[in-house]
Amino acid sequence: MLSHSNIRFHARSGGALKGRLRVPGDKSISHRSIMLGSLAEGTTHVSGFLEGEDSLATLNAFRQMGVNIEGPENGRVVICGVGMHGLKAPQTPLDLGNSGTSMRLLSGLLAGQGLDLTLTGDASLSSRPMRRVTEPLRLMGARVDTTDAGTAPLHIRPVPSLKAIDYELPVASAQVKSCVLLAGLYADGVTCVTESAPTRDHTERMLQGFGYALQRDGSRVCLKGGGKLIACDIDVPADISSAAFFLVGASIAPGSDLTLEHVGMNPTRDGIINILRLMGADIEVSNERSVGGEPVADLRVRHAPLKGIRIPEDQVPLAIDEFPALFVAAACAEGETVLTGAEELRVKESDRIQVMADGLQTLGVDARPTPDGMIIQGGQIHGGEVDSHGDHRIAMSFAMAALRSDGDIHIRDCANVNTSFPAFDRIAGDAGLKLEVEHG
Ligand code: S3P
Repeated sequence: MLSHSNIRFHARSGGALKGRLRVPGDKSISHRSIMLGSLAEGTTHVSGFLEGEDSLATLNAFRQMGVNIEGPENGRVVICGVGMHGLKAPQTPLDLGNSGTSMRLLSGLLAGQGLDLTLTGDASLSSRPMRRVTEPLRLMGARVDTTDAGTAPLHIRPVPSLKAIDYELPVASAQVKSCVLLAGLYADGVTCVTESAPTRDHTERMLQGFGYALQRDGSRVCLKGGGKLIACDIDVPADISSAAFFLVGASIAPGSDLTLEHVGMNPTRDGIINILRLMGADIEVSNERSVGGEPVADLRVRHAPLKGIRIPEDQVPLAIDEFPALFVAAACAEGETVLTGAEELRVKESDRIQVMADGLQTLGVDARPTPDGMIIQGGQIHGGEVDSHGDHRIAMSFAMAALRSDGDIHIRDCANVNTSFPAFDRIAGDAGLKLEVEHG
């Protein structure tokens, strides 16, 4: 476990990724399992739960609101649901750490509960835009205050009722969509959300799994407030966003042959596979099946020469968390890779366009940031020291870059790898990455 606040990665150059492994559980699904399980009638059993800091922040928040939750123990969690109106006001502000999903989804879920509470987070989360959720909630009659800058802490005040809205998402964001739908559970009338581009639909799938009726019509989804959730069992697939580092690592490292088991293959999340294949990656999908309403499969990935591409904009929301890893793939590809239409990357756990461009340039790669993307010329990655800016996905992406660099890569500020991928160092090391974790 990477628990120290000042952790550095030392990734030695070279190596290959081999064998079979299962990365930890899907973060988005883990969050939602706690949220819906807590509001359900009956007991929900979860397996494959991600025991990372982000999903644990959600779990602890519901404990603070009076929900009895056992575990997690080896990915197993048992949630004794309190019903739609059983949450209690917490004694202290709910600290959601680094987790944007916790904050944005909870703001909607809690807006109509009649509770008075505050949501806080770490420095990164406290600088991320929150008006994208407070604005639709205000239209529903909620009172959720931000700072003057539109950031956390969020103060949720009790209101007598919420009213349904018909909302067109101004940004392609599953967090905003989910926030409005979760508030809609408590609203009078039918709440509808229309998205400009498909974003992950785990909230919709899981609501249906808990027996809540919703109507989907193309890009529009609607639900009627005032219903209830019935407890169910949830088997969380391995997180394709964590698998992404290994898909890229094995693709770029000669001699690699790696199988990733039980990976979530939801079509709103599979952009990484589509984009890597367009670049020439050798990814074989097998054993396709469905668990609890979510498709999963095993992925075998072997080294292949990659070529630069213009990344199709329709793939951007389907791979939104995978661009740090994809930039590393582009740095190893032959020719130019161009990403556009990805301005959302600037407001993730860090400004992923700037931080990745800075790091790649430090390692000798011609990476030019643009307002909404990046232009990367493939070439040789050199050794050097880069800063992850506390961004878990950037730390893991640069660790994988060492598979193809001609010198070691040192990465600063890696403790937040624990938010999404505890034991990354062990799992990646077992597969063949030469990674040392340095404390202090
Ligand atoms: C998430 C949605 C995405 C993603 C995040 C998880 C979710 O955020 O980047 O890691 O679980 O709904 P946006 O909705 O801001 O795109």
